[in-house]
Amino acid sequence: MLKAFDSLLNESSDVKHVVILGPQGAGKGTQAERIASPLGLVHLATGDLFRSLMATDTALANQVRSFVDAGDLVPDEVTAQVLFAALDDAATGHPELVGALFDGYPRNAAQSQVLAEKIEERNEELAAIVHISVPRDVLMGRLTGRLICRECGRSFHKVFNPPAQENICDVCGGELYQRSDDTPDAVERRLAIYFEQTEPLLNTWRPKGLVHEIDGNQSIDQVAADIIASLNRLLEPQSSTSQGS
Ligand code: AP5
Ligand code: MG
Repeated sequence: MLKAFDSLLNESSDVKHVVILGPQGAGKGTQAERIASPLGLVHLATGDLFRSLMATDTALANQVRSFVDAGDLVPDEVTAQVLFAALDDAATGHPELVGALFDGYPRNAAQSQVLAEKIEERNEELAAIVHISVPRDVLMGRLTGRLICRECGRSFHKVFNPPAQENICDVCGGELYQRSDDTPDAVERRLAIYFEQTEPLLNTWRPKGLVHEIDGNQSIDQVAADIIASLNRLLEPQSSTSQGS
């Protein structure tokens, strides 16, 4: 039962969703970990959902793995199924939530249409698109040095955001590993898809005044502060500026 979102939508369209968008390595996941909770949003990352699925040994996991490891998009239908099931789960029993922070969705025009329809069906609102820009030549270094926690999915960087203890997650103590799609070939493929299919979506949102432009080529803390400042009034968060480090 969608208790939280349903009870909110009866009053008006108070459920406000946000999309965080940017090229691979822009810092979407890194920022989402810091800003979602202070803004009252639940972080829903399709990539994280797929990596949890890929840790299982099922036919669906094997199908998804073949796309992810090559740097290709997982078919739209599978992606929507996984994402909107997670949205329903997240909404259940969390009346404090303002909405969802979508990370990694939508990535093409068809997915953008599906998201708009889902949100309309639920009588909710797509309130903002956070667009993180980073020069392309900075991205590869961020991705090849990235480390991910096997248990909680938090991301670190060998140089820019190192864990306190080598290969151990600061948050949950899990083992850190390198993503199977952070190889130079897969990264090139992922970036090509981003600039061909995902970035043009901004042209449909800009005229509606939804896009919040953020300079992602700054320290992690400064980027988080800029996003929170940009969204603060829009979402009326429960706590003002608390951030992780
Ligand atoms: P996904 O997991 O979403 O990966 P991605 O889109 O390739 O984006 P990244 O996670 O690489 O970038 P990020 O911006 O989150 O970077 P991060 O914060 O970690 O998707 C993986 C795959 O799943 C896709 O390729 C596809 O196959 C499939 N998929 C997912 N969504 C799909 C969809 N909608 N449809 C179909 N298929 C889908 O930062 C990177 C590194 O930089 C980290 O090490 C971090 O510590 C460091 N860093 C971050 N910010 C800074 C900073 N300001 N300064 C210095 N270092 C920084
Ligand atoms: Mg990510």
